[in-house]
Amino acid sequence: MSRPVVLASNRGPVSFTVGDGGELQTTRGGGGLITVVGRALSGTDALWIAAALSDGDRAAAERGVIEAEGYRVHTIVVDDLASYYDVISNSTLWFLHHGLFDAARRPRFDRAWRAAWESYRRVNETYARALALDAPEGAAVLVQDYHLSLVPGALRALRPDLRVVHFHHTPFGGPDALRMLPTDVATELLSGLAAATACGFHDQRWASAFEASCRELIEVTPTTFVSPAGADAEDIRSVAASPACASRLESLDERVGDRKLIVRVDRIELSKNIARGFLAYDDLLREHPEWRERVVFGAFVYPSREGLAEYLAYRQEVEGLIARINEEWATPGWTPILYDARDDFPRSVAALRRYDVLLVNPVRDGLNLVAKEGPMVNERDGVLALSRESGVAGELGRVALELNPFDVAGTADVLHRALSMDAGERARHAAAVRERAEARTPDDWFADQLAAAET
Ligand code: F6P
Repeated sequence: MSRPVVLASNRGPVSFTVGDGGELQTTRGGGGLITVVGRALSGTDALWIAAALSDGDRAAAERGVIEAEGYRVHTIVVDDLASYYDVISNSTLWFLHHGLFDAARRPRFDRAWRAAWESYRRVNETYARALALDAPEGAAVLVQDYHLSLVPGALRALRPDLRVVHFHHTPFGGPDALRMLPTDVATELLSGLAAATACGFHDQRWASAFEASCRELIEVTPTTFVSPAGADAEDIRSVAASPACASRLESLDERVGDRKLIVRVDRIELSKNIARGFLAYDDLLREHPEWRERVVFGAFVYPSREGLAEYLAYRQEVEGLIARINEEWATPGWTPILYDARDDFPRSVAALRRYDVLLVNPVRDGLNLVAKEGPMVNERDGVLALSRESGVAGELGRVALELNPFDVAGTADVLHRALSMDAGERARHAAAVRERAEARTPDDWFADQLAAAET
């Protein structure tokens, strides 16, 4: 059966600005969610509901449904964005699901946090009301991510005719993590999600963690499904073929010369484990002097969530570490780490074309699209060094060089092994990784969401 589709997410596919003459201007949004969902929804009748995150988005909200950049978008104004987004979504739920809390100090669920939870609940209710008004009879409503955990429960009460699918693009914390939350909050969170027709995850580990949390904490058996997202090969290859990417590659080539290149492409994000990646490289240079001056580590990262103190502190820590390592090992003609923290997608794709080793070492990750995008555009039979804690390890782990993201010495050994592979081994490795990376498309993921709506 083909149902009308409405999608809800925190960040929308388009961001709005108000021009000098008061007219609305649009820019296509970035981020992993758009990569996964964008192609399937673009040019269709599907409606996309997202939070108004800027003044331009708030101006757009007054105009109802807007057709922009191939999408039908309705931005909604939410109450107390900082509490909902910064305090609960990013400082609490993101940390909980990625196992990032430093339990000796955080979390602290004080009265101010309680007030923020009320805001989170109100924003979720605002979404549910907007969806209840906008969704056609019997529609499939696809709710994305941890920002909107309470929407399925709230929407079910308003519109029992809808099929509500919830999908986490993050990992999911198991019962021990959920037990950190105040009991009533954990119950509300899990019950809100479990009210969905089905809850989806990129990897079986996260689905099982959610099921176990529901069983142990609320004695409910939810319906789940597993659907790893596919990267958009056509899109990334068209960026790779663009003049902008060619000029970035040229300047990268000038800097790297004929040395080997280790690359990472990430948001500056705690879960990405950027610091341990550099510590492993430091260890590699110490343990294997033969690599000194023969390898460069290119870190092509971009700022994220800079409203949060933890993210700013993490960035400082990473930059301090880079300075220390460069100071220790640099020689007159060689800088061991190239660090570029500009938000420049063609630059990141140029680095993916050029890598000899792609380091993807998150402490935990819902999926990790870079691990799929890199092999799609790489031109040097590059080696994928992949964290076993990333969701994508379920698909690529058997062919990639797997690493334990906490094991700095072990990661250095994996980098050494990757750099030491001969041409034949690299070619076989790269072909196997590419085949697996391309096995699923964004359309496959979208079809799974629609199928889950029928469960
Ligand atoms: O689930 C992870 C996610 O929401 C991705 O879709 C996105 O790439 C990332 O987090 C960015 O988050 P934010 O919208 O907070 O910048």
